[in-house]
Amino acid sequence: LLSTPLNPLQHDYTQAMQRSGGMLLKLLNDALDLARIEAGRLELEPSPFDPRQLLSEVAQLEQGLAHAKGLRFVLEMSDDLPAQWLGDALRIKQVLLNLANNALKFTEHGEVILRARRSADGLLCSISDTGPGISEASQARLFQRFEQADSPQRRVGSGLGLAICRELVDMMGGSIELESQLGHGSTFHVHMPLAEPAVAMPVDEFASGRHYRLLLVEDDPIVATVICGLLEREGHKVKHVGNGLAALGELAHAPFDAALLDLDLPGVDGFQIARLIRQREHAGQHLPLLAVTARSGNGDEAKARESGMDGFLRKPVSGEQLITALARVVPGTVASEELPA
Ligand SMILES: Nc1ncnc2c1ncn2[C@@H]1O[C@H](COP(=O)(O)OP(=O)(O)OP(=O)(O)O)[C@@H](O)[C@H]1O
Ligand SMILES: [Mg+2]
Repeated sequence: LLSTPLNPLQHDYTQAMQRSGGMLLKLLNDALDLARIEAGRLELEPSPFDPRQLLSEVAQLEQGLAHAKGLRFVLEMSDDLPAQWLGDALRIKQVLLNLANNALKFTEHGEVILRARRSADGLLCSISDTGPGISEASQARLFQRFEQADSPQRRVGSGLGLAICRELVDMMGGSIELESQLGHGSTFHVHMPLAEPAVAMPVDEFASGRHYRLLLVEDDPIVATVICGLLEREGHKVKHVGNGLAALGELAHAPFDAALLDLDLPGVDGFQIARLIRQREHAGQHLPLLAVTARSGNGDEAKARESGMDGFLRKPVSGEQLITALARVVPGTVASEELPA
């Protein structure tokens, strides 16, 4: 909606809806994360990642936020970071984003600096801001759930961010320390022990700027319209079908660069479709398959991969998430312009 013509009032309302939706989504995800941790069901999923890329992605997101607030966000990476580490990149990013978001949220003037360097056994990051600082009396308390200090920004959150950071870092065997004084800004130090892979392993390569011909298998017409819209806006061509049988029919008739599969479909479910697609492939053929699901269970991603899928996304998805996930699973492909419409 925001990328269509709107008058200024409509634009403001739509932005307010997007902000509120974003806040609800964050609250829900935070509450789910804590519930999972409490139930002992949150598991770290370590795989090789490039720390420089991860830190740059964090900085890129934060620079946008900082700019909107008239602040500066600086990333300082030391030269000794390894090319690869073994760790749960998603959760490491979640910790850094939470801390950097806080720093920007509570700071009105000045800058936020994210420093990253290697320690004897992993990654050492510090996030410093020129904000109001935190009194010694509040420091320990704020790492507990729902605890917030008095501040104008109190309503813009629920006090779960730091509690989640602490839980995640504990799971990694690391630590978070806070150094702050009222009126003199805050610095959060995070230490995360990480192993280095013995031999270099393939890290996700990001392909970008290509146009794909995609098959979307999704039974909910509203979700399908949204996903088609997000993909078409990026220049991709999308064929939408509502069930597995129709999907197999389409695949038999036209070439696709990738297929996006909902997992819960009437009749043949997404896992079965993936298996059927893989069974029909000849040697050397491999259609990239991306699961897009509303499920929140922990085991679904592993199950999707077992049934032959290459990527996994949870709904609701943003255009950016779709594009990144696709770029990860689609190797050098034929541009859609060269394919029959
Ligand atoms: N960089 C900071 N500068 C000043 N105060 C901070 C900073 N980071 C955290 N705080 C204080 O710690 C409290 C708890 O932070 P936490 O991230 O857990 O919650 P929140 O940001 O208020 O809400 P949520 O993260 O759930 O959206 C904040 O409400 C704020 O009072
Ligand atoms: Mg927070």
